[in-house]
Amino acid sequence: MTVLIKNGRIVTATDDYTADIVIDGERIHTIGRDIPAAGHAEVHDARGLLVLPGGVDVHTHLDWDFGVARTADTFGTGTKAAAFGGTTTLVDFCNQDGRAPQAALEDWHSRAASACIDVAAHLILTKVSEQVLIDMASLIRRDGVSTFKLFMAYPGVLMVDDATIFKALRVARDNGGMICMHAENGPVIQVLIEEAIAAGHTAPKYHETTRPSLLEGEATQRAITLSELAEAPLYIVHLSAAEALAAVTAARDRGVPVHAETCPHYLFLTKEEYERPGFESAKFVMTPPLRDRHHQSMLWRGLSTNDLQVVSTDHCPFCFNEQPLGMKYSKQQGVNNFNKIPNGAPGIETRLPLVYDGGVRANRISLNRFVQLTATTPAKLFGLFPKKGTIAVGSDADIVLFDPNEQWTIRAAAHHSRVDYSLFEGRSVTGRVKKVFLRGGLIVEGDRWLGREGGGNYVPRGQAGRA
Ligand code: URP
Ligand code: ZN
Ligand code: ZN
Repeated sequence: MTVLIKNGRIVTATDDYTADIVIDGERIHTIGRDIPAAGHAEVHDARGLLVLPGGVDVHTHLDWDFGVARTADTFGTGTKAAAFGGTTTLVDFCNQDGRAPQAALEDWHSRAASACIDVAAHLILTKVSEQVLIDMASLIRRDGVSTFKLFMAYPGVLMVDDATIFKALRVARDNGGMICMHAENGPVIQVLIEEAIAAGHTAPKYHETTRPSLLEGEATQRAITLSELAEAPLYIVHLSAAEALAAVTAARDRGVPVHAETCPHYLFLTKEEYERPGFESAKFVMTPPLRDRHHQSMLWRGLSTNDLQVVSTDHCPFCFNEQPLGMKYSKQQGVNNFNKIPNGAPGIETRLPLVYDGGVRANRISLNRFVQLTATTPAKLFGLFPKKGTIAVGSDADIVLFDPNEQWTIRAAAHHSRVDYSLFEGRSVTGRVKKVFLRGGLIVEGDRWLGREGGGNYVPRGQAGRA
């Protein structure tokens, strides 16, 4: 049973040409010109459309327990939303939560079984004993979990100390793994939060003032120093601050294997959102917080100079309203105290259109760069390439047909996530996902959902940190 995609403009990280694609089973079988339509089970005319590799989003928190809060999307709802946004592979965060890593991973697998697209796991390490350091090797080599997130923030909840970071970096280095770092100076942030609350500064906007960019820069530099000493690759997650980017840039200039991602909300929104009236600004409470335009323009510069290599979503959705899911899933927990607002925001469905519209159409990045940032480089860095992240003979037939000219308006009401708001509500964008193929099967056709819960596969990953 073969599928033919005809006349599309195929864009990869390096190429841009018009051709036809034959999919045989789950893989790309042939790429050529003027392939006859006869004999194929399905023929899709892609004339006028971009043919892109399925998006790879390496930063999501689906069905994620954050202590008092839990993210609103199950693997079923979150991955369906991802598919409508042109993403066909996720690397999601499994939280160790003090347990043996294997137990945490088994729990994650039981929840991830409902995924509609392909999924892989990073492990968040919160309690790193000597046994856990030993377990890291088998997680990388046997379970295909080759990346681990460590937190320098959230003392008492998620944070680990510098000695732990250093030890984990060395184990990752020796086994083909990579440490992903949440780089903010948690203890100093804690002092600022306590002072703010004591002064009666409880509104959501104080989330931003208590997490200054300097403390993201300091932690990023410290993480880089530790990775340099350990001679280990490092990946900085959700980078938002010019100071952090400067540290990454200087390290890369010295030849240190440091990589970093940013997210659409840092590229398109600023801290002015925290001036919204009442509690509305709680929608924008994520860590790091939104910054000002200076930081934003430095991030765009970093994307074009390759000091930033990936745009991921950090989809960490908490509903704004308590109902229908309940208080545990809601921002309302923090209505009287910004420090109790669950940190995180949605974005899984809008990454490709936003970056296309605000990046490619705005002449900030090229079309090839767009594919690099959203599919190819994340696939390479996280051990998924060439199975994922490109359009090539032998690769999985994860393909997005994208209309570069269709204008539409982002509305949470039309989204497929269970979260009840969008950071980008009412924003007009040009560029829209029209069809999505997952391993050769059509799962999205315009507004129609053709995929199914459980239709995604777990993808064990290879060595990480090599782009
Ligand atoms: O606010 C955020 N980013 N929440 C998710 C947890 C994390 O740090 O990635
Ligand atoms: Zn983080
Ligand atoms: Zn995150």
